[in-house]
Amino acid sequence: MIKGFIFDLDGVITDTAELHFLAWKALADDMGWQFDRDVNEKLRGVSRMDSIGIIMEHNTVSLPEDEVAALATKKNDIYVASLDQITTEDYLPGARELLTHLRQEGFKVALGSASKNSTKVLQQLNATKYFDVIGDGNSVSKSKPAPDIFLFGAEKLDLKPAECIVYEDAESGVDAAKAGGFFSVGIGPKDRVGHADVCFSSMKEATLFEVKSHFKELF
Ligand code: BG6
Ligand code: MG
Repeated sequence: MIKGFIFDLDGVITDTAELHFLAWKALADDMGWQFDRDVNEKLRGVSRMDSIGIIMEHNTVSLPEDEVAALATKKNDIYVASLDQITTEDYLPGARELLTHLRQEGFKVALGSASKNSTKVLQQLNATKYFDVIGDGNSVSKSKPAPDIFLFGAEKLDLKPAECIVYEDAESGVDAAKAGGFFSVGIGPKDRVGHADVCFSSMKEATLFEVKSHFKELF
């Protein structure tokens, strides 16, 4: 029986991919590294340190660990400054309606994001009130595709994985949900999240009604 929902943040509740892109691009330009939207796509759902690793590998660059950490911090400072522009109008279409609906129906709700900036993003959206538990990049050490962040959320909600549905827009996020034994809803193209139990092209389609009809026997 489904009693709870766990949501990824970036790409599910709001679209921060462009802000991440601009911050990585500023760093890459500064360093003389190649970086474009195709490379940015590979960073979806991937932790900050793994992301800089992917960008450096793409540029066949290798640097001492402390320098890499300093560069990741530099990117983060640019990204955090840009979060001030997020407003309560910046939910992905359908996301606020779904969160409101889940509250009305009494489901337990957790956030399960890789981002260490989740609290700030939720505040900007005025979305903190929709969540019983905030699981983010500070909550666990192993990032997606490890299931740890979703297991953290389920445990804090006092639910078993099989009682929760995870919403994810990243390939690694769907992998993480499956590895943890959660039911999964993929948001985005089939070649990215088609391995989820059910896949919708956007949050607008992924309503509680649609999800209930798909997982009929679980409600
Ligand atoms: C994920 C994003 O939600 O968070 C990734 O999809 C990002 O692109 C990751 O790298 C970590 O975010 P942050 O805010 O901790 O740098
Ligand atoms: Mg995401």
